[in-house]
Amino acid sequence: KLWSLCLSLELFHLFALIHDDIIDKAATRRNVQTSHQFIADTLYKQNHHGDLKHVGEAQAILLGDLVLSWAFRLLEESTSSMEVKEVFQNMIDEVVVGQMLDVELMTRSHVNIHLITQKMLLKTAGYTFIQPLLLGAHLAGANIDTLQFCQSFGRSLGLAFQIQDDLLDIISSTKELGKKVFTDIQDRQHTYFTQYILDHGTDMEKEKLCDLWGKALSEADRPMVMNLFESSGALKF
Ligand code: IPE
Ligand code: MG
Ligand code: MG
Ligand code: MG
Repeated sequence: KLWSLCLSLELFHLFALIHDDIIDKAATRRNVQTSHQFIADTLYKQNHHGDLKHVGEAQAILLGDLVLSWAFRLLEESTSSMEVKEVFQNMIDEVVVGQMLDVELMTRSHVNIHLITQKMLLKTAGYTFIQPLLLGAHLAGANIDTLQFCQSFGRSLGLAFQIQDDLLDIISSTKELGKKVFTDIQDRQHTYFTQYILDHGTDMEKEKLCDLWGKALSEADRPMVMNLFESSGALKF
């Protein structure tokens, strides 16, 4: 039963990533093609007709839906606890709202540190740490102090995890990371690091970031990007 619940969590995570990769137009993850990219490529190779990029995305949305359905099925099998189901439902609501906020913030030229924090808590901290900790705690019959500890510990760990994810997008290589780098700048994704430049950088550094915003960057741009993030102090704060 416990394994079913763990598997259910893992499938939910997979669902979130399949849809996230469509949202973020990501072609690779964990050093392999993302679902929508793999489906579109396979269809091209097999000489299928039509708007195959769109078909790849459509099939991957449906694949994500299927995986989410399996997650629910396993959740049902694993427990009759209303508390556990309530935590699971809250987890889904939070991630979806977090992703909505994530997408919405990409369309704004100015945000602030509070909105970025809110985005990270909703899209990452909840489903990666807080709710999984709470699920285990509820099953173990934990008291209110332990539940509160799970909340605050999960919150801090979740923020640290997303900050690390955002940092790796700047300082890692595609090979090391298993997914394309500099995608956050390309997708106009506000992070603590980009916000630091906007809040504390020189006029020239701010201009440089605005100039890069939304542009496709490659390994060849690394010295210039690293120089911007390093000289502004964004990587040290
Ligand atoms: C995804 O956040 C969070 C989810 C809810 C799936 P990111 O978009 O920053 O994750 P990566 O960088 O693609 O792994
Ligand atoms: Mg995303
Ligand atoms: Mg992503
Ligand atoms: Mg990321």
